[in-house]
Amino acid sequence: MATYVVLLGPPGAGKGTQAELISAELGIPHISTGDLFRAMKTQDTPLARRVQAIMATGALVDDATTVEVLKERLVQPDCRERGALLDGFPRTQPQAEALDRLLAEEFGAQVDVAVLLDVSEEEAVRRISGRRVCPECHRIYHVEDNPPRQPGICDDDGAELIQRPDDRPEVVKERYRLYLDKTAPLIDYYRQKGVLREVDACRPIEMITPDLVKAIRAYAAG
Ligand code: AP5
Repeated sequence: MATYVVLLGPPGAGKGTQAELISAELGIPHISTGDLFRAMKTQDTPLARRVQAIMATGALVDDATTVEVLKERLVQPDCRERGALLDGFPRTQPQAEALDRLLAEEFGAQVDVAVLLDVSEEEAVRRISGRRVCPECHRIYHVEDNPPRQPGICDDDGAELIQRPDDRPEVVKERYRLYLDKTAPLIDYYRQKGVLREVDACRPIEMITPDLVKAIRAYAAG
């Protein structure tokens, strides 16, 4: 059965980290619009250049482009069969409404559960300053909280870890501000639909994962 899950929360809440873990456990494809946009940086097109420039400032990519990029991924056979863990989408009210339309029209489905992972701005900046990512497999690390076995090297493929260009503290503050302004209102949007579940994100990574899996399984079971 296909299950459509929205992971909500500010930058640094751990959406990407948890999505990787629960995707493996539940067999639901992980879709991160941030990863889809970052993958465009190898393309030399006006759109790809515009997206990279927007991301570097911490601003949001426009809704029409974002929905188009998301749709292209969401209509693939794996999402049709298993559903999707949406990480970083939707981020605005128009995106949430577009998602509802897309799921209804393409799959006769709806968002089954929206899980909120919340952390303070201070904790977001702390987590993001220590974040390192693998440029090859996109695995996420933290220099203190979730370090690789060998400093600076990915455990999975031996690639040299990098820092994201939008992880500078001043850009993180702008991303957090935009989250409060544009994305936090979606908490009520999903609460009113009766599909919101909150999971305490201010705990170690391995304590959060089972709660998320439980929340998703409970909603998926109806
Ligand atoms: P995106 O890539 O989606 O970034 P984000 O939402 O800001 O989220 P992050 O990836 O920063 O944080 P996360 O919650 O995934 O945390 P993580 O697991 O990495 O978007 C980037 C940009 O793309 C946007 O600014 C925008 O320009 C554009 N964009 C993307 N989607 C868009 C959309 N829908 N509309 C318009 N524009 C869009 O964890 C962070 C760190 O903390 C890691 O180091 C991790 O190891 C560590 N950590 C995780 N959990 C814990 C824990 N429990 N305890 C301690 N440390 C932890």
